[in-house]
Amino acid sequence: MKVAMLTSGGDCQGLNSALRGVGKSLYKIFGKDVDIYGIRDGYRGLIYGDIRKMDPSNFSGILTLGGTILGTSRQPFKTMCLPMPEFSGKTKLDMMLENYRKYKFDCLVILGGNGTHKTANLLAQHGVNVVSLPKTIDNDLWGTDMTFGFQSAVDIATHVIDCIHTTATSHGRVFIVEVMGHKVGWLTLYAGISGGADVILIPELPYDVDKVCKVLKKRKMQGKPFSILAVAEGALSKEEAKLGKKALAAARAQESYPSIAYRLAEELEPYVGTETRVCVPGHFQRGGPPCPYDRMLATMLGAAAARLIREKHFGCMCAMIDNQIVPVPLEEVAGKLKKVPPNCETVQMAREIGMTFGD
Ligand code: F6P
Repeated sequence: MKVAMLTSGGDCQGLNSALRGVGKSLYKIFGKDVDIYGIRDGYRGLIYGDIRKMDPSNFSGILTLGGTILGTSRQPFKTMCLPMPEFSGKTKLDMMLENYRKYKFDCLVILGGNGTHKTANLLAQHGVNVVSLPKTIDNDLWGTDMTFGFQSAVDIATHVIDCIHTTATSHGRVFIVEVMGHKVGWLTLYAGISGGADVILIPELPYDVDKVCKVLKKRKMQGKPFSILAVAEGALSKEEAKLGKKALAAARAQESYPSIAYRLAEELEPYVGTETRVCVPGHFQRGGPPCPYDRMLATMLGAAAARLIREKHFGCMCAMIDNQIVPVPLEEVAGKLKKVPPNCETVQMAREIGMTFGD
């Protein structure tokens, strides 16, 4: 049995825990009858043939290690089927299939998020035996309740809000903490609630800046000069939400703000009359060791992947649904985004305890 593994897209906590889960379980199941290969830097390594044989020692001591021992890269799905001059007109897909066959792999284990799963599905449609694992701090992958990386990022973003809380209180300032999450608001929602933010702005609930101002002014009048806003990097105003993708990009390009938090600060400060500061923790949220929950989840998913390989059950992602690890067909996962349902229980609960979404 020859199994290859790769990690693709933005890194996150728990990737090494998951690789370890797959590797250790495979050696346990197949003993000397398995050879595991590591593909460097995601799909790039499969395209260019940057592939190395691994051994059991590679999977030791990495449970708590952040990042990925295999390296990663972003290879946009839209480029996969374009002819490449450097490959005499062959596509990246052609090259990946060629290398998979050249090495006579029996299976490819792919650890990735949204974009990665589109390509994973494409490879499966072309005869590659794929088993995938869901990773991303965004938790936006369709077909699983939870992705590893998410809870660790929630811990970090919440810690940032906690720290900002004390300084905001001391100075009586408004603070805008911009949280990652790409086009969805899971990370902001969870960190915002856990950190006790006063205002939470997420893409799924477009905001009205006047409503946000009113909330902050009301707090001030109640003798609470400080306020904390947890704002998703992808948050949108109600006006912006009406625009198409291209029009939105054009409108944002005309603004001179590095990101949404800075625009909001400029809009809010004169109206509320309180010094307003921005905090953007950025890639901090993806770094460092995985939290225990992510170590567990990644290990469980990794071991499940090895079981699926033993059963020759390919073309699926190991997912967590209702606290059970189950296989989900790749074609159900690929190309779909798991957004925060605007009326979900978590949003309703946040409203019940007085948090506002500015909508
Ligand atoms: O998908 C994970 C993520 O961290 C998003 O939250 C964020 O929008 C994006 O990746 C940042 O990408 P990059 O690391 O390429 O800047």
